Amino acid sequence: MNEIKIFSPATVANVACGFDVLGFCLDSVGDDMVIRKTDKKGIHITKIEGFDLPYEAELNVAGVSALAMYEDAKPDCGFEIEIYKNIKPGSGIGSSAASAVGSVFGMNELLGRPYNKTQLTEFAIKGEAIASNCEHADNLAPALFGGFTLVKSITPVQILEIPSPDDLYATIIHPQIEIKTSESRAVLPKKVPLTDAIEQWANLGSLVHALHTSDYNLISNSLNDVIVEPYRSQLIPHFNEVKQAALKNGALGAGISGSGPSIFSLSKSSQVALKVKDAMNKIYSKTGIKFEIHISKINTQGVKII
Ligand code: HSE
Repeated sequence: MNEIKIFSPATVANVACGFDVLGFCLDSVGDDMVIRKTDKKGIHITKIEGFDLPYEAELNVAGVSALAMYEDAKPDCGFEIEIYKNIKPGSGIGSSAASAVGSVFGMNELLGRPYNKTQLTEFAIKGEAIASNCEHADNLAPALFGGFTLVKSITPVQILEIPSPDDLYATIIHPQIEIKTSESRAVLPKKVPLTDAIEQWANLGSLVHALHTSDYNLISNSLNDVIVEPYRSQLIPHFNEVKQAALKNGALGAGISGSGPSIFSLSKSSQVALKVKDAMNKIYSKTGIKFEIHISKINTQGVKII
């Protein structure tokens, strides 16, 4: 096999109470990529469609993660990468993670899978880091492993896979404004009060337990973010209205997707997810801001060959 086409999915990081550690994988939106083995050594990005991104491998998220793996594997070939980008950079649904994961997943398949998914996460972190100025894996891990994942640690990389209850659906509104991850990290406090930290880790522990036991009421009670949302929600137009409308229409919870501006909600059933979509649509239609809304089941497979 010399060429492979893959689907690299969008993801929702943080999931309200799990800043920088929790995330889940979507199946209705993602990038396509073609990875090809070449006689010419090195990593060459030969096509980018969808958005204006750098072709130089050292400046491109997919290129940087590919180079990290290439330098480690020292294969007897080079690779060409074509990127068909559907996830808008700066959208809050893991655009850079999809790029970082896609290149290393594809190369690993073409090399006969010398690396496991934890090792692929290590390479992908290098690519993700150039987009956000820091190393975190809460979008990368669900894109690679699928489902819900918890990043137990970055050094060394330790990823825990968490079960996804069958009836869980996400509704995500993506206002077409860009918020750079680096900028939305800059508004966050460096220290948090102990009382907030206690509430947050109680919610995170409860959410992980609720996902294991398919306890939808507990999922609902746990989807609260008292640390990050108060700061970042100010960057997102109509955040509170959208969140309240989602809850009023039956969502289990709602919050900022990754670093925003996308807003996610989780619902028990596709019907409720659809009602939430209509409610979000009603609010944003009046704003004059362009937007897209996605409904997705939790994607338990992650990045895949198509
Ligand atoms: N955990 C990250 C953040 C996700 O919220 O900044 C975005 O890359």
